Amino acid sequence: MQIQLLTEPIDTIPVDAVVVVAFEKQNPGGLLSGFYESGEFKGKLLDTALLHRPPAWSALRLLAVGGGPAERFGAAELRKVAGTAVRFLKPKGVRTIALALGPGFAGAEQVAAAAEGAILGDFEADRYKTDKEKDQRVDTFSVVVAVAEEALEAALRRGRIVAESQNFARDLVAEPSNRLTPSILADRAREMAAAEGLECEVLDRARMEQLGMGALLGVAQGSTEPPCLIVLRYQPAAVPVFTAHIGLVGKGVTFDSGGISIKPSEGMEKMKYDMAGGAAVLGAMRAIAQLQPAVAVTALVPAVENMPGGRAQRPGDIVKTLSGKTVEVLNTDAEGRLILADALTYARSLGCTHLVDAATLTGAIVVALGNFYAGAFSNDDHLADQLLSAAKAAGEKMWRMPLDDDYKEILKSAFADLPNIGNRWGGAITASMFLKEFVDTTPWVHLDIAGTAWLDEAKPFLAKGPSGLPVRTFVNLVTRWAE
Ligand code: BES
Ligand code: MN
Ligand code: ZN
Repeated sequence: MQIQLLTEPIDTIPVDAVVVVAFEKQNPGGLLSGFYESGEFKGKLLDTALLHRPPAWSALRLLAVGGGPAERFGAAELRKVAGTAVRFLKPKGVRTIALALGPGFAGAEQVAAAAEGAILGDFEADRYKTDKEKDQRVDTFSVVVAVAEEALEAALRRGRIVAESQNFARDLVAEPSNRLTPSILADRAREMAAAEGLECEVLDRARMEQLGMGALLGVAQGSTEPPCLIVLRYQPAAVPVFTAHIGLVGKGVTFDSGGISIKPSEGMEKMKYDMAGGAAVLGAMRAIAQLQPAVAVTALVPAVENMPGGRAQRPGDIVKTLSGKTVEVLNTDAEGRLILADALTYARSLGCTHLVDAATLTGAIVVALGNFYAGAFSNDDHLADQLLSAAKAAGEKMWRMPLDDDYKEILKSAFADLPNIGNRWGGAITASMFLKEFVDTTPWVHLDIAGTAWLDEAKPFLAKGPSGLPVRTFVNLVTRWAE
């Protein structure tokens, strides 16, 4: 999809559809007055009304999308409006769209959000549908503003880069596990790194054995697919003002059957998205490589398949982590924390001064927060605040969860330093407490995205399937750091 700025009067733009935002209880008159007067359109957020051949216009259609109450209309709403417009229009064969931003709504943040919404709305997880007639895509999306200032062009570019990178992550998550094994994920990371000028290193099983990543390797041993640890490095061209080195770590379980503690068959097909954290880290690195912020970033994706093969680890097995701590594997389905433990330890050994991880870690976070907010856990209030403010600006909802030492007594093993599960209660917190044991005093935020990385139902502005969360938060965190 081509994205561009236009400054022409909207009645003269020769596109398949011009889109305007219309607010609740604010009939602007003109061509839109009939929408409001009929009562068919109230301007509620994401309401739609379509007019063909608007009289004396060059466009073939005029689409009004509801903006809700004007005083509550911000970048997050505009992102949804742009996505809704694309998803409403593309099945109708519309190829060219121009979205008009009114005065007061056409700042840099809004232009970026409009571009993002359009590109994200255009995404479909339909690679394996062979009926290509249904493969409708929009060719050109224009954002109409009063003056095409430099700052707006830059915002448009940024929005495009971020959303395309988010779609890159969504593409990976949408892949079924037979077409995205740990090795294939590593190939994709290598290709992306080569295209974007990032350094890429992939640690294989032998190297991980040498280093002593017993927790990661224990998870991998039930599968015939070899595990790997993908490491990408972004080094800014300019000497950074800060000596911070951010580590982004993402859970990359390409399929989670549960292992010997096998999951129920119902819904198991969804466990191909258990690498969504890893995909988000790769997507963020793609955007970071293009945006060139002045801060060093290393991405780590431990990639494994959790299977119950003949060599699988058993409940009760004790593994030695890279940190030296031993873990009693009481449940092989609590595998994410095992691979993250070694990846976090390794990130610290590479010199990361700040760590953020994203993982589809627990069903318990879905019980706690549902599908709208990701859980954020941290050992550092300052980094947590930075992360949450980056998330807010990105329109990705996250909620801080507790991580007090009170919970530590739940994590007691009779035979090793730690068990890999807690008790019935606060499962997302005990999982985070486990990870905390491996970051030591390094400032760290853990994002549990089990409830937010996959949409079970399409939204008017997003297809069913991978959401691409939290790519935008990662990119905001890193670029704001450098500013
Ligand atoms: N990948 C799952 C968590 C998950 C569950 C993600 C549902 C998305 C939707 C994780 O590896 C897991 O199995 N966690 C267990 C932990 C338990 C055994 C302590 C869980 O949440 O049930
Ligand atoms: Mn599991
Ligand atoms: Zn898992």
